[in-house]
Amino acid sequence: MNDTRDAAVLRLAGTTKAFAGTTVLDRIDLTVPEGEFVALVGPSGAGKSTLLRLVNGMHLPDGGTVRTLGADPAGCSSRELRALRARVGFVFQQFGLVGRLSALENVLMGALATLRWPRYGVMTYPRALRERAVRQLDRVGLADQRFQRCDTLSGGQQQRVAVARTLVQRPELILADEPVASLDPAASVLVLDTLKRISAEDGISVVCSLHQIDLALSTADRVVALRSGRIVLDEAAAGLPESRLRAVYETAGSAHD
Ligand SMILES: Nc1ncnc2c1ncn2[C@@H]1O[C@H](COP(=O)(O)OP(=O)(O)O)[C@@H](O)[C@H]1O
Ligand SMILES: [Mg+2]
Repeated sequence: MNDTRDAAVLRLAGTTKAFAGTTVLDRIDLTVPEGEFVALVGPSGAGKSTLLRLVNGMHLPDGGTVRTLGADPAGCSSRELRALRARVGFVFQQFGLVGRLSALENVLMGALATLRWPRYGVMTYPRALRERAVRQLDRVGLADQRFQRCDTLSGGQQQRVAVARTLVQRPELILADEPVASLDPAASVLVLDTLKRISAEDGISVVCSLHQIDLALSTADRVVALRSGRIVLDEAAAGLPESRLRAVYETAGSAHD
């Protein structure tokens, strides 16, 4: 079941997902090689979140296959699925931080799956882990804010804490579901640049859903566009005209020309 020789970190083949009889992903073919930054774009309801959830086994496909880091989530026991998820970082639109805790403690919580007991307070974590957490906060530009409560940080800072929390688990793949949808343009650029830099430095593949076409083009190596559950465009970002992506957002069947 686990084929670590597969150079692709992610491979969907003919993958289909339906909810209550309605197909929301239709025969998706998508292979992501190691280190690639993929922007997943498309209108609301296109199936972006569902696709990301299939990758980490939060949903199982109704047809076709999913291989994530060489493993098939559908064939995993719950223990194997936990192990697989520990290798896949997930960044959410709403950050998912504990507001009353410090940035550092939130980052440490990213490593909880590797620890035997629950922890209460920064000093109860092993020293090596504390150092690793501070290093990751430094990489996202927030070492000085490590003792600050997360609910006093800006949205962009909170999302960078969430990225550091993901990094502390040493992910081999990062999935980000509209990580900048609640941020202003400047903070959005900073968060995406941070993700992009880390992807390049660590060779971690990133699949990031976005609805800003300009950000997808300026950040990603490759842009995959979904519409109504189907891939309608899959191309290198370099040289891809914005107009081709805009067309994806125009409603199907609005051929008034
Ligand atoms: N758990 C679910 N149960 C039923 N329908 C769902 C569920 N999750 C998503 N959907 C439906 O699947 C479609 C795709 O949703 P989603 O993947 O969230 O799209 P996106 O992230 O691109 O906005 C939508 O029509 C949505 O209503
Ligand atoms: Mg979504």
